[in-house]
Amino acid sequence: MGRMQTSSAVIRGLCIIWFAVFVIAAFVLNASDFNVKGIFFPRELRVPQLNTVTKVKIDPCGKLKLCPDEQFSFSISSGAASVVQPKICLQNQLILGNPNKNSGVGINIAVVNGKTGKVQDTGNFDMYGGEIEPLIKFLKTIEKGSVVLIASFDEPATKLNSEARKLIADLGSSAINSIGFRDNWIFVGGKGITSSHMEKLIKNKPGTNKYDGWPEMIELDGCIPQYME
Ligand SMILES: *[C@@H]1O[C@H](CO)[C@@H](O)[C@H](O)[C@H]1NC(C)=O
Repeated sequence: MGRMQTSSAVIRGLCIIWFAVFVIAAFVLNASDFNVKGIFFPRELRVPQLNTVTKVKIDPCGKLKLCPDEQFSFSISSGAASVVQPKICLQNQLILGNPNKNSGVGINIAVVNGKTGKVQDTGNFDMYGGEIEPLIKFLKTIEKGSVVLIASFDEPATKLNSEARKLIADLGSSAINSIGFRDNWIFVGGKGITSSHMEKLIKNKPGTNKYDGWPEMIELDGCIPQYME
């Protein structure tokens, strides 16, 4: 009897210690989340809530965007904090996002044939827990005449190196050179396409962040001219 009680007390103790180590480790791993003021005067945790209404079918691409003939309409949203997944729509079709199971933490890319508007490839590259090589390999396969759309989610920069940044700069991005930890970024450009670059970067800054630890979500829509040789 006594032995049983002792061992269950030990197990309980171990569980508590394990949990404490886990919580501390989680914070240490994300040390930049810490700000001393926040520890003593915690702000209410402002994390975006996912829409939980399941009966209503929500069109993920929103209202129809009209573009002139021979242009493709697009809309992009970055992720919001580490909660809401990003999305990329082309001609009002969702081509990358949570319902398609092809988005995730890091850098999300859709490659589209600039003449036909057909989606050629999509990729999600985890720049926090993943490796840089798959992204570099993917960027190198992009052919001339492709339109490239990018949306970040949660953390797009930890693993970025100068080779990957250069390859993205070659698609027309200038923000790529200053992207850092948990910045939000969306981009439209392409290979051999010089006319229609659009991008937006919001830096992760404790003073201006909308969420604790992350800047606000970015949305952008517009028209992409068809690629002509
Ligand atoms: C740590 O930060 C990363 C990158 O923003 C995030 O994906 C992860 O959920 C964070 N972990 C914890 C425990 O907060």
